Amino acid sequence: MGNSFGGSLIVFEGLDGSGTTTQSGLLADYLKEKGHSVLEVEEPGGTSLGRAVRDLLLQDHGMDIEPLSELFLYEVSRAQLVREKIIPELKKENVIISDRFAVSSVAYQGHGRGIPIDVVKSLNGVALNGVEPDATIFLDIDLEERDKRSTGEKPDRIEKEAREFYRRVREGYLEEIRSMDDAVLIDGTLPKDEISRRVISELESELL
Ligand SMILES: Nc1ncnc2c1ncn2[C@@H]1O[C@H](COP(=O)(O)OP(=O)(O)OP(=O)(O)O)[C@@H](O)[C@H]1O
Ligand SMILES: [Mg+2]
Repeated sequence: MGNSFGGSLIVFEGLDGSGTTTQSGLLADYLKEKGHSVLEVEEPGGTSLGRAVRDLLLQDHGMDIEPLSELFLYEVSRAQLVREKIIPELKKENVIISDRFAVSSVAYQGHGRGIPIDVVKSLNGVALNGVEPDATIFLDIDLEERDKRSTGEKPDRIEKEAREFYRRVREGYLEEIRSMDDAVLIDGTLPKDEISRRVISELESELL
């Protein structure tokens, strides 16, 4: 186990549309079937405060949000999620699946928005309070695949950002994921079921 609390924290990361929500759900279904107690959470969100922050971050409300303010809002959601949900659940030795987590801030607010990476990591550290994912699964898609997957729904505030932004975010993710011991890259363009099989096989030693 990678964390000192017991239980397991499994994180999915990737560009918007990479399939983090799809794969979080498939893994949760599989683990529940196997008899595990599983809590699914998402970032930003996962708590009442986190959902209020999520609305501020993602809805097209017309307010200006400075990059640093955006980072702080993500850290508010993360700090609350860690203390209100993740630590208690880990102590019960349960499995938590988080649809995005701290590496998202390194990729989006750091590499994407240009906040110094050490600043992002330092705020992540304060929010995380010693909690570390046992495994981080990065679902890699390129920008063309991201465009193809846009749902046709009204794009949210962040999805409207330029392609150059997403190029930096993907490069940032790749750099960060390569430097992490407990991170795995999976080709996000594979069929959903094949990705799910690979996720389960990667996590076998951790969970099953
Ligand atoms: N492996 C896959 N192959 C093809 N399409 C996929 C795959 N996984 C997910 N999709 C489709 O891509 C879209 C985005 O999937 P999903 O919502 O899981 O991604 P996400 O990373 O959670 O996106 P968001 O950033 O919008 O929350 C959905 O229409 C989904 O059905
Ligand atoms: Mg999603």
